[in-house]
Amino acid sequence: MIDQVTVDRILQTAQIEDVVGEFVSLRKRGVNMIGLCPFHDEKTPSFTVSPAKNICKCFGCGKGGTPVNFIMEHEHLSYYDALRYLAKKYNIEIVEKEISAEELNKRNERESLFVINTFAQTYFEDVLWKQDEGRSVGLSYFKERGFRDDVIKKFGLGYSLESYDSFGRVALEKGYKRDYLLKTGLCTERQDASLVDRFRGRVIFPVHTLSGKIVAFGGRILKTDEKTAKYLNSPESEIYHKSNELYGLFFAKQSIVKYDNCFLVEGYTDVLSMYQSGIENVVSSSGTALTPGQIRLIRRFTSNITVLYDGDAAGIKASIRGIDLLLEEGMNVKVVLLPQGEDPDSFAKKQNASDFIQFIEKNQTDFIHFKSHLLLEEAGKDVSKKAKLIADIVQSIAIIPDAIMRSVYVKECAKQFEMNENILFTEVNKRRILLLESQSKQTNFVVESEDADNAISELPSDHSTVNAFLHYTFLQEQNLIACILRNGASKIVGQDENKAEYIISVFDFILNDLAVDDLDFSYSLHQQICNELIRLRASNQEQIAFYFLNHPNKEIRDYVFELITDKHTLSKVHQKYKAIESEQDRLNYQVTKYLLDFKEKIVDYYCKELRDKIKQSEGKVSDEEMFSLLQELNRYNAIRNIIMKQSGEKTVIKI
Ligand code: CTP
Ligand code: MN
Repeated sequence: MIDQVTVDRILQTAQIEDVVGEFVSLRKRGVNMIGLCPFHDEKTPSFTVSPAKNICKCFGCGKGGTPVNFIMEHEHLSYYDALRYLAKKYNIEIVEKEISAEELNKRNERESLFVINTFAQTYFEDVLWKQDEGRSVGLSYFKERGFRDDVIKKFGLGYSLESYDSFGRVALEKGYKRDYLLKTGLCTERQDASLVDRFRGRVIFPVHTLSGKIVAFGGRILKTDEKTAKYLNSPESEIYHKSNELYGLFFAKQSIVKYDNCFLVEGYTDVLSMYQSGIENVVSSSGTALTPGQIRLIRRFTSNITVLYDGDAAGIKASIRGIDLLLEEGMNVKVVLLPQGEDPDSFAKKQNASDFIQFIEKNQTDFIHFKSHLLLEEAGKDVSKKAKLIADIVQSIAIIPDAIMRSVYVKECAKQFEMNENILFTEVNKRRILLLESQSKQTNFVVESEDADNAISELPSDHSTVNAFLHYTFLQEQNLIACILRNGASKIVGQDENKAEYIISVFDFILNDLAVDDLDFSYSLHQQICNELIRLRASNQEQIAFYFLNHPNKEIRDYVFELITDKHTLSKVHQKYKAIESEQDRLNYQVTKYLLDFKEKIVDYYCKELRDKIKQSEGKVSDEEMFSLLQELNRYNAIRNIIMKQSGEKTVIKI
């Protein structure tokens, strides 16, 4: 861990124009600088750097942020690694935070496990290339399967001798602790306490972390023996959590970025063969269903994924659930079904990369076609089965976070099943609301570990679409939050009940006003920003921006960045009331207006609910009950009139 003082120093030292300038050539334009965006292809520069605000933003693709955000995005680094990068650039010495003895032990243990894995990898590789048994059994197996020397070396493949403890013995001789041999699972213990090599007589596939450290191994038997499992893998340990690693990612990541796409296959050998044939952007989930953690690993590099399925139907249906998960995580998913009897490994070996890629391009389909094709065959002419299939697909569409994508799929689905688009749309939206409701109950934003950036919050990324359904007041809330983020620390003039004027910060003014009416933000992200602001007690605007733009939670960081830099948020009021001369008056006006808008919307919502209720109750309830409902509606209407009047007065008085 880097201690907070150093973190602050780095954040305060890093200058956006220096940091960006290293990668983008910048020209001055007014107070800002401008250049070609490094995150997307463009011919006219729209990447803007503001030295004054110490942030950058591309007005083409929306990417940008503080110096740290920029480095994270550009260099694909975690938050803390980006800080280390900047520290190096500015010659800031990093004082790693003092850690407790217990923490130290734990860390030492983790490091020891990695050290022993590194030793094991080198050992198995040496055996494969240098020892007789290694060459005649292991290496010749790989060669028989058609793997080239350079690929075998690149992936660090190895061989573990047939004997019971040759690895364990060497490791102990070299001074590696028995405890760690057991904890990594490289050895197991017999009843008489002697060690046995887990992978004896198997070829070895080392599993690398994203940064290239050896975290686990897979070992394949060479014979076809029904009784023994084909693959043995390292057990879960302090360092190895299967669900957070992807085989091949370390070697694939650059190519994934380059092609903005990632191929997903099932096994170790599929990865190797595709890599060998020249398709390097390939990873494997090692035979198990993809996990959210693995998807997020991929998403650091691309949001496009192409899943390759073997040509036998058995495994496919099980893995369809995996597709839903990918959709839910906002990935664009394509699916390719290989010819009968082929897996990526066998298929890649039959042709060169360009033929393979051509096959993929010709045969890849979106998930609707894939899923419906697969299930339609099964359903045949059975109407109820077909209805179930459509419901199934509707559910898959509903989990896609992006509204535009959803509507494209609805159109596609309507076409395919010759159905009315609107009916499908309604159904998708209904399910989406249910989904979001259950999600919003689970949302928890507090993330403060070193891995804050991996632990991307559960919330779907597209706030506006989410809340169009869920939170009636989303836009009004957003205006208030944006106003606080931009002007929260500024002072305005308030009036107490006796019309006496007093000076108050925009933030306090808004909070007080909401508190008086017992109102709160309904959107959890807004709530959290608000709560943290209360704790922050910022005395100036820079402090607020600084705090949130460097927030450990990416969701918050990005959201606040969007609100602070978005030209469109808040714009309506600006345009309408240009007549207001002084900055102070304008701010006073704005804040009041946003508060009134928010309240109006809430009352509006209640009115609507009541009207619905009245409509449904007609003829079903007693006159008295109906009368009290109507009275209540009147009361709300009256409140609304007061709000509207205040809103109108504001306009009249101030202009
Ligand atoms: N797997 C495993 N344990 C098993 C079988 C499979 O962990 N007993 C995992 C491995 O990661 C394997 C993947 O599931 O790579 C896919 O399984 P499979 O297709 O059977 O293996 P392949 O990788 O195709 O291996 P090979 O081509 O050598 O048969
Ligand atoms: Mn295979």
